[in-house]
This record gives sequence, C-alpha cells and structure tokens, in this order.
Amino acid sequence: MGAEIYRALNEANPSLKDAVRRHWQSEPCESRFGQSTADRRRFFEEIDSSRYEYAPFIPGFARFGEAAGKRVLEVGLGSGSDFIQWARSGASLWGRDLTEASVDLVRERLTLDGLAADVAVGDVEALEFEDAFFDLVYSYGVIHHTPDTPRAVAEIHRVLKPGGVARIMIYHARGMTVFFEWLLFGPLSGKPLRSPREVMFHHNESLGTKIYTKREAGELFGAFRKVNIRTCVDAGDLLDIQLSERYQKIWLIRQAVKLSSVLKTVRPVLPSILGTTMLIEATK
Ligand SMILES: C[S@@+](CC[C@H](N)C(=O)[O-])C[C@H]1O[C@@H](n2cnc3c(N)ncnc32)[C@H](O)[C@@H]1O
Repeated sequence: MGAEIYRALNEANPSLKDAVRRHWQSEPCESRFGQSTADRRRFFEEIDSSRYEYAPFIPGFARFGEAAGKRVLEVGLGSGSDFIQWARSGASLWGRDLTEASVDLVRERLTLDGLAADVAVGDVEALEFEDAFFDLVYSYGVIHHTPDTPRAVAEIHRVLKPGGVARIMIYHARGMTVFFEWLLFGPLSGKPLRSPREVMFHHNESLGTKIYTKREAGELFGAFRKVNIRTCVDAGDLLDIQLSERYQKIWLIRQAVKLSSVLKTVRPVLPSILGTTMLIEATK
C-alpha cells in the first residue's frame, strides 16, 4: 500500500531531491542543539549531548565500539555526532551526505579531533563504491527522506560484503509522532481525510518523508539474509523536543509540546510498538 502512495506522491513532486537537499543544506540536522557557535568544541559537545539524551538507545544500536579495524560507511551525516563516534572507534571510515553543509561540519569535527576519514558529498541512491566493499553501512534517519528508498536499500546491499551488516533507522508508521502530526495537519487543520503518510510526506522535516510499518520494512530489506526490526519510543513521541524554526512558528505545536511532562510520566507503560523510531539490523 505504502509503495503505491509514495509512487504517486513522488510523481507529483518531480524535483523532490532538490527540495530534500535544500532543506538539510539550510539547517543541518540537529545543528540547532549547538548554542555556542563561537566555541566550536563546545558547539559540537552540545549537539552530541542533546542527541544522546534524546535518543539514548543509539549507542546500543550502532555499537560504535565494535567497528575498530572494519570498513564502515555512514550515509546521511547531519551534524556528525555518530560519525565522530565511528572515527574515534578506529574504523576505516567513509561518510557521504547530500549536502555541503553537513560535509563541512563533519570535516571540521574530524580536524578538531585530529582524526581522518573520507567524507564527501554523495547520494545514497548512487554510491560510488565497488560491490562488496564495506563490513558495515550505517544510516540513521536518512533513507526515508530520499525519493527512491528501495533504490537506497539496494545500493546499501550492493556495497556490503557478504556477511556485512546494515544498521538503519527509518520512521515507523504506527508511532506516536506520526499520530500527533496527523492530528495537527489532518483533522485539526480541517482535513480529516488526509492520510498519515500524506501528512508526513508534506510536513515532517524535508519534503517527501516516508513512514513504514514493520512489515513494509521487512519487505524493503527482503534481499538481506537476516533482518531484525524493532521500534522504540523516542523523545519526539513524548513531545520532548526542541522545535526547529519551521515548527516554532505554529502556535498549536508550541502548545502541544507543553504536554510533554504528562507523556513523560506515562513513559514506563508505553509499549515500544508506539515508537516512531524503527531500528533495522540487516545482514547480507
Ligand atoms: C534527518 S538527517 C539525519 C542525519 C544524521 N544521521 C542524524 O541522525 O542526525 C538526514 C540527513 O540525510 C541526508 N540525506 C538525505 N537524502 C540523502 C541522500 N539521498 N544521500 C545522502 N544523504 C542524504 C541529509 O542531507 C541529512 O544530512
């Protein structure tokens, strides 16, 4: 079902990849967490501490420490919090992002730490690497933004060695964030018939964001030998978020985030299936 909806939405938005690039070029993911822009070390530390406070499950999923000596590719780098962890772990490391802005931030971080990696602009839908090159491909919150997500998965599969592992995060269609956004941009905006997929496509982060059920994710990664999928409740699901400029302008969103303390109280009883973060580990 999702594939057909996305085919139609993509066709209606022919310059989607340019829109995705423009969005992340104008504000690299999570860079708003860094306040101390003049003190660059401090700036990056602020970004990292917010990231791992909001999503404490990332290190357990990524398993940065196990990458020493392995060939690792990260695609979709944002502000580079995870990338610098891979670099510190001693991996042989490559990083690609659609935007110069992200590549510049990551190179700056590497220089500050005295570390080296091959970082450049690149597209997950058309990776320049040869087949069976990497032990690990990591991509967190990226491939649901690119217009041809199945193509991105095929590329990740291609560049992995047999037995290599992909660790990928995409959004879960049944998550609470999806429900809140649908409520806001659907019924509360006088459009009760808008589907959650359509709402997320138009209103979540860059234009074109897709969401997947666990079953759809399993199908997406069907070429892999072994696939493990789980979902987690994240800070967004609890409305515990620092709003980007785009959302700060919307009164209702500013009011909604005030409900966060209530949601945090019930956090221990929220089942993980209501989480919008979907973590996929797939072995080729
Ligand atoms: C939501 S951010 C996630 C960044 C980082 N992984 C994180 O978790 O903070 C999405 C990132 O993916 C990048 N991106 C989007 N489409 C891409 C593509 N086709 N190829 C490579 N990078 C892409 C964007 O430029 C942006 O940096």
